[in-house]
Amino acid sequence: MSVAPVTPARSILITGCSSGIGRCAADLLRKRGYRVFASARKPEDVEALRRDGFEAVHLDLADSSSIRAAVAFVLEATGGSLYGLFNNGAYGQPGAVEDLRREVLVEQFQTNVFGTHELTQLVVPVMRRQGGGRIIHNSSLLGLVSLKYRGAYNASKYALEGLADTQRLELEGSNVFVSLVEPGPILSRFRENSMAVYRRTIDVDASVHRDRYRELEERLAKQGAAAPFTLGPEAVVAKVIQALEAGRPKPRYFVTFPTYLFAALKRCLPAVWLDRVCARVN
Ligand SMILES: NC(=O)c1ccc[n+]([C@@H]2O[C@H](COP(=O)([O-])OP(=O)(O)OC[C@H]3O[C@@H](n4cnc5c(N)ncnc54)[C@H](OP(=O)(O)O)[C@@H]3O)[C@@H](O)[C@H]2O)c1
Repeated sequence: MSVAPVTPARSILITGCSSGIGRCAADLLRKRGYRVFASARKPEDVEALRRDGFEAVHLDLADSSSIRAAVAFVLEATGGSLYGLFNNGAYGQPGAVEDLRREVLVEQFQTNVFGTHELTQLVVPVMRRQGGGRIIHNSSLLGLVSLKYRGAYNASKYALEGLADTQRLELEGSNVFVSLVEPGPILSRFRENSMAVYRRTIDVDASVHRDRYRELEERLAKQGAAAPFTLGPEAVVAKVIQALEAGRPKPRYFVTFPTYLFAALKRCLPAVWLDRVCARVN
């Protein structure tokens, strides 16, 4: 990937920079010449980003006041402008749909949907005023098709896709562009973080799916970090750069072979056939 600097420096706010794709995006976009506002949910991660020379800011998507304070901080620093917003921060709530307590689903949406929406809502007027901007959502292959035991995360990414698709229509002619990046499996702390959430929120012993959960736990422990066709986070950042720098960015950027494959299957197959394929994925 080319890292030719962008001049003059364009500013971008990124959520979820403590690890994975967000951290990689912060590093690569800074190298490319962007003025990166790197945000993180935990104070110690904000400190670490600061030590690494970023203009770092606390932003917890589940907390409105931190979202507002983060936007105020960025706008104060830039004199009221912001070229790009990369809505990256999110987590995956595992578990069968019938095992998802209401508050667990609410928590998933607070971060992945409502917080992301609120942040976008604060930034769009800034971009309208300055005559343009780029909003990039990190969605997922699981925003396009559904897989078992991922219902909460599926629903949150479908919701994000719905809001993004609608807003793209509503922003027509404003020079503010909305793009969705659709990664398949990417090396990051995502799976580890999801396992911690699963242990905290799913009552395995009380579930009709308990044997299946145990099998999955064993398989994940044996298989280690990487699923087939996993790419590094820089593959996602390459598409983020396209969405930031194309004259007319695309509505969707696919990343990884599984995303291309399932997107094609969804276009071609009747729903019952697609169900059969998806049901085979663990
Ligand atoms: N890895 C994959 O296979 C994959 C595939 C498709 C899509 N994605 C998407 O890629 C994005 C980044 O994930 P990743 O793979 O880089 O995983 P990751 O390493 O787990 O990073 C997720 C980031 O989101 C942050 N986050 C979680 N809850 C938050 C909250 N309430 N407020 C603000 N930030 C929060 C995390 O912060 P903490 O460290 O504080 O938890 C972390 O910085 C997500 O939107 C994910 O859905 C990932």
